[in-house]
Amino acid sequence: MSEVSDPIFAKIANRYDRINRILSLGQERKWRAFGIRQLEQGSVLDLGCGTGDTDFEGRTVVGIDPVIEMLALSPVVARVVAVGEALPFRDASFDGVFSGYVFRNLTSVDETLDEVHRVLKPGAAAVVIGLSRPANPILRVLHRVGTAVVLPVVGLVFAGAPKEYWYLHRSLDALPQPEDLFAGRRLDYEKHWRTGLFGFVYGARLRKPRT
Ligand SMILES: C[S@@+](CC[C@H](N)C(=O)[O-])C[C@H]1O[C@@H](n2cnc3c(N)ncnc32)[C@H](O)[C@@H]1O
Repeated sequence: MSEVSDPIFAKIANRYDRINRILSLGQERKWRAFGIRQLEQGSVLDLGCGTGDTDFEGRTVVGIDPVIEMLALSPVVARVVAVGEALPFRDASFDGVFSGYVFRNLTSVDETLDEVHRVLKPGAAAVVIGLSRPANPILRVLHRVGTAVVLPVVGLVFAGAPKEYWYLHRSLDALPQPEDLFAGRRLDYEKHWRTGLFGFVYGARLRKPRT
């Protein structure tokens, strides 16, 4: 479990969904929905499910998250307190894995991707969506300045939590660009996309080889 993100999400859990809508100008559900549509039907693991604010469009869902305060708000019946780095499921349990806005909070992306590979059925896909910086270096600087101002102010006004939203600003630089992060893994990097202002929202579909 991430020692930094755990108390942060516990503190903001009650206001998390509302602030997401404000910060994304109502777009973040649409960004998640596009990712869900890249998955086949069947059973899905929602890795880092948070408050469970995702429509899986008829799929059977199991959610995991280390933060009880977030999980407690989820309407999903099958919820487990766990981290992505140590999934409490048998090998080849799921027809798909989804993870929304979680990867920059992980303690280990490598361990989590190994676990995703293990719990997926052969030939099944994982979709990861997240926030990073724009690929263009000039837009990246502009975006960094923007989030340094906007995130703590919104965090202060709507959650009384400027430090926590300052951490979210810093976490946008925590990982390499997604095109580098997901390349060369045991999961095939099948497809990626970018959306949102300057393309700061990314999506990636990874697939477990059949053999
Ligand atoms: C930004 S929220 C995203 C929640 C939800 N997926 C969504 O789309 O709104 C990040 C979530 O990742 C969870 N998290 C933090 N560290 C994690 C880990 N090591 N493994 C799995 N989830 C983790 C947090 O508790 C939090 O609920």
